[in-house]
Amino acid sequence: MAEQKATNVTWHDHTVTKSERQKLKGHKSAVLWFTGLSGAGKSTVANTVDHLLHSKGIHTYVLDGDNIRMGLNKNLGFSAEDRAENIRRIGEVAKLFADSGTFVLTAFISPYRVDRDRARQILGEGEFIEVYVNASLATCEGRDPKGLYKKARAGEIKGFTGIDDPYEEPLKPEITLDSDGKGIDDLAAEVVQYLKDNGYLSA
Ligand code: ADX
Repeated sequence: MAEQKATNVTWHDHTVTKSERQKLKGHKSAVLWFTGLSGAGKSTVANTVDHLLHSKGIHTYVLDGDNIRMGLNKNLGFSAEDRAENIRRIGEVAKLFADSGTFVLTAFISPYRVDRDRARQILGEGEFIEVYVNASLATCEGRDPKGLYKKARAGEIKGFTGIDDPYEEPLKPEITLDSDGKGIDDLAAEVVQYLKDNGYLSA
């Protein structure tokens, strides 16, 4: 957990409230937190949902592991400690986006339950929607879109999630997607349906 280093700082409440921002946009805001193994389809489903929501006039933004690790989080590696800090920062950034009235879609392996639960706590009740993109290791390894499983098996990458580093499955995710059995469009449609069924798409 990151310590509060700065002293003599005061929190300023923003004058325009989150609900006023949501009203202006015409819909609620929340974080769709995609978690799962590398190659499970997190980014692909998140980006497909992003397009679907955008085409309905909904304000969205995708935070994607590989991209964020080349910018904001370029100083972090893949130790448990660095992954925790990666997820902490994403939780905080996602909260800012949600406060601005935007739907955030995050696509990070986020392998540790404790880190995901901390992100859940940072966001308010109902604002953290955990989406478990469930694909077996065999499926992910078979896809191996970046050739990383091959490298991990060859011992060229150490501490690769699913090979020689843990992935802790969510215990009570809001949504579980069967990425072994279904195609991207069906999985994305399930996420949008969840948002409709749970009243997220109107302010
Ligand atoms: S997380 O564990 O901290 O949530 P994140 O989602 O940001 O990981 O980054 C995962 C991506 O980094 C993978 O999709 C893969 O492309 C790349 N990567 C490189 N090394 C590793 C590793 N040791 N374990 C997992 N992913 C890795």
